[in-house]
Amino acid sequence: MKHILDITDLSVEEIGRLITVAEDIIQNADQYQDVCKRKKLAALFFEPSTRTRLSFEAAMLELGGSVIGFSSAASSSSAKGESVSDTVKVVSYYADIIAMRHPKEGAPVAAAAVSDVPIINAGDGGHNHPTQTLADLLTIHREKGRFNDITVGFCGDLKFGRTVHSLVSALSRYTGIRLVFISPEELKIPHYIKTDIVEKNHMPYEETRTMESVLPELDILYMTRVQGERFFNEADYIRLRDCYILTPDKLAAAKKDLCILHPLPRVNEISRSIDKDPRACYFKQVENGKYMRMALIMMLLGLLP
Ligand code: NCD
Repeated sequence: MKHILDITDLSVEEIGRLITVAEDIIQNADQYQDVCKRKKLAALFFEPSTRTRLSFEAAMLELGGSVIGFSSAASSSSAKGESVSDTVKVVSYYADIIAMRHPKEGAPVAAAAVSDVPIINAGDGGHNHPTQTLADLLTIHREKGRFNDITVGFCGDLKFGRTVHSLVSALSRYTGIRLVFISPEELKIPHYIKTDIVEKNHMPYEETRTMESVLPELDILYMTRVQGERFFNEADYIRLRDCYILTPDKLAAAKKDLCILHPLPRVNEISRSIDKDPRACYFKQVENGKYMRMALIMMLLGLLP
């Protein structure tokens, strides 16, 4: 039995397989409609979510399975003081697979230690978010046709942005990728990501505070929201929340085939007038997330063709 707590729980070959299956689902959805018949997914969301929870649910329903779960800690026994381990142990008697999101970093590791069914980390605090990375990778694959020889800019809250941490980790296993980290001083990429992932894998990288100076070099621009809920101090959040706003005039200097990604939700980081620009790929990312979650559920349940 396999858990997906971190993107490196999947090998590069397994990610390639998931992409192949997801692309087949896109072409031949009908052939997958009964694959998970009589299987149940539990979606345990101790933290708010729209896309991740609903795309897991939609993924399981489209595979012919069913879904149980809760969408806030307040509506679970967590509100009575139950531990994550006990909640997960109980749910593992009801479901064949569990997707969980929790505000505490490492909560899915505690869950996996007691679960009799596969655990998927759907986001743990400011740490990791491996299934968002699967959505990001399928989008890059469909837009660029490759993972090699690209310059990827990450912009915004690189400290608390868990989707950034997981995607950097995933990209570190391909060759010829250059990273540009664009953030204010207070929201820089964590030191451990730089030393244990980027430098260890000899990835060329640059850190900067200004988006304008690097925008023309980028093949992918990964925008992020400033994660207000992880700040200790409201005044800092208010000061930093609008530090980068992508507008059409800034985009004028970018490559014609730039691919703009954002895990969403967007607050102010991308002007709505960019949504119609062919370089805006963030809503395609949403759709790709569902297909990759379908492929992942099948893989973890041993149901891949
Ligand atoms: C992200 C998350 O939850 O980390 N959202 C998502 O799952 N698509 C990004 C965010 O909340 O800013």
